[in-house]
Amino acid sequence: MVDDATVGSEPATKVLLTLFFLPYGGNRALLPVCGIGRVVREKPQITRTGNIMAETAEAKNSQNPGLRSVIARHASSLSAQLQAHHTNIFPPNARKGIRTFSPSEAAKLLGVAEGYLRTVASDMPDFNVAQGAGGRRMYSVDDIAALRRHLDQGSRSNGRYLPHRRDGEELQVIAVMNFKGGSGKTTTSAHLSQYLALRGFRVLAIDLDPQASLSALFGNQPELHVGENETLYGAIRYDDEQRHMSEVVRATYIPDLHLVPGNLELMEFEHDTPRALLKRQSGDTLFFARVQAAIAQVEENYDVVVIDCPPQLGFLTLSALTAATSVLITVHPQMLDVMSMNQFLSMTSDLLDEIAASGAEDRHKWMRYLITRFEPTDGPQNQMVAFLRSMFAENVMINPMLKSTAISDAGLTNQTLFEVERGQFTRTTYDRALEAMNNVNAEIETLIKKAWGRAA
Ligand SMILES: Nc1ncnc2c1ncn2[C@@H]1O[C@H](COP(=O)(O)OP(=O)(O)O)[C@@H](O)[C@H]1O
Ligand SMILES: [Mg+2]
Repeated sequence: MVDDATVGSEPATKVLLTLFFLPYGGNRALLPVCGIGRVVREKPQITRTGNIMAETAEAKNSQNPGLRSVIARHASSLSAQLQAHHTNIFPPNARKGIRTFSPSEAAKLLGVAEGYLRTVASDMPDFNVAQGAGGRRMYSVDDIAALRRHLDQGSRSNGRYLPHRRDGEELQVIAVMNFKGGSGKTTTSAHLSQYLALRGFRVLAIDLDPQASLSALFGNQPELHVGENETLYGAIRYDDEQRHMSEVVRATYIPDLHLVPGNLELMEFEHDTPRALLKRQSGDTLFFARVQAAIAQVEENYDVVVIDCPPQLGFLTLSALTAATSVLITVHPQMLDVMSMNQFLSMTSDLLDEIAASGAEDRHKWMRYLITRFEPTDGPQNQMVAFLRSMFAENVMINPMLKSTAISDAGLTNQTLFEVERGQFTRTTYDRALEAMNNVNAEIETLIKKAWGRAA
């Protein structure tokens, strides 16, 4: 399928041109490549004395290096402070981990009754579950994985406990996107990947955002733990340095959840693509097919891929969209956010038309809007949700993700709801957030199973 995406097609060039003129920051990176971004000098003003001009020029000159050095200084002190902060909350050599699960949570994740879980756990040889406060058994992720394998062996209902995809069931690639920063893409991607892995799917999370917040959430600080050629860029680059996808995949502290981390190097793809398009030769894999080609190299190992997209519509995002079998658009239900989403949708649709004309295949299975950071007591937000539902009907997910301090506080220490200790929060705050998150993720799990033609 990737072979179709070969060169010689003018629409690809059109995409390039369209991207040049998009009104957002990400594409400015492309402009210098073609000389479009050069500063247009103001015409010198005619003044009575040459002195004034000289002074103005001097003022301008001193302003520019001034600005440059201020920004450089701020960048380096901020980066030092941030590193100190990260080291503080999470020492570089410490291993991040996930919390343990109560019997009722473990039973739910496994899809069995709590009593049955107890029986199975005590029947299993060499299986010792640690005890938490009050002597209650607390299951680790490894315990849950071991129980899952054990249950699956004893079960005649094929795949009930180990839901890996079977023959004829296609790898599901879910792109989480929207070009509005702060709409909850990373939070959604992180929780969805962890949830699916806890439910027994083999998951690959890809951080496609040069800002790399997903990698940070998963304990990979972009500037400390992610070296050169260790992001997806390594597998999609155009030159000889390209690596096999399996070399940029790393394990996490959750069995069956792997990560391709991100960092600033991903931006290189935005710079390289215009050049590659101009120099393209027959047989080249065009930009939009490159993420899909990279994923295809490791697809045997996974059931679901979750891609956390950057908050812009560049070549990376378009390539992720082409690789996606499903698209999740996160939207905060407020006027400005919805207006921005409107632009996102119309630009995406234009670009997708161009890419399709270049030979990209439509692998689309489902697309959903996910309402994020929803406050049920906020009148205008409710109106906005009602408006979206009336317009997009079943394309809006039934379950919204609620705004919760449990999520934002956990985020401060780069943690998810599955990682923070429940005791850190008021019980109801934590439980409400987790319930909302589990409902959202269960709804997505159903969509995945439906895409495979399984009973939900
Ligand atoms: N449901 C939520 N409740 C409270 N805060 C949230 C929620 N979802 C996301 N946030 C916070 O909002 C900020 C932006 O979320 P993030 O997922 O990083 O958005 P994006 O990836 O779209 O830029 C983060 O600080 C995150 O902790
Ligand atoms: Mg993000």
